[in-house]
Amino acid sequence: MDTSFDMFIETEVPENELIISRTDLNGVITYVNETFAHISGYEPEELIGKPHSIIRHPDMPRSAFADLWETIRSGKTWEGYVKNLRKDKGYYWVYARISQVIKDGKVVEYKSLREPVPREKRIEMQNLYDRMRAEEEGTSRVVLYTKNENLEELKKYDLLSK
Ligand SMILES: Cc1cc2nc3c(=O)[nH]c(=O)nc-3n(C[C@H](O)[C@H](O)[C@H](O)COP(=O)(O)O)c2cc1C
Repeated sequence: MDTSFDMFIETEVPENELIISRTDLNGVITYVNETFAHISGYEPEELIGKPHSIIRHPDMPRSAFADLWETIRSGKTWEGYVKNLRKDKGYYWVYARISQVIKDGKVVEYKSLREPVPREKRIEMQNLYDRMRAEEEGTSRVVLYTKNENLEELKKYDLLSK
């Protein structure tokens, strides 16, 4: 049996390190710190000038970002769980806080600070976002969490196929 499957590797987000980015008012990246670049798998200069959606993961529901933009445009801070796409197609979860940068009484940029997400919460959010996407798009994708030692057993079934 020819069974193949994609592996998407999760990057663990370090504790005690700030993960920072800023964008202009259209969501184009103006600044990232070294930790942000490192975790996303890009060089800082590959990110600056690109839309922040460069690290958008296809598992993220559209409504999460609609809520984000509505919240920050109204002057409030948006907080939420985000699954991000690395350059190598791997992923990482963050808890993000996004808000306006105000200078001389005017909104000049947006900024985001991020922290790691506990494993249990990542699984809960994956399930929630899968359900939200299914409702938004009428599509579903099954995400399976398993120990490596179960993989050989699972390969016997035709589940892990293209
Ligand atoms: C400061 C700031 C930080 C953002 N950080 C992320 C992020 O880490 N990941 C992400 O997918 N979108 C992030 N966004 C939202 C993106 O701008 C974009 O709305 C989202 O990726 C969805 O892409 P789309 O609007 O093209 O559908 C951020 C926006 C702002 C203003």
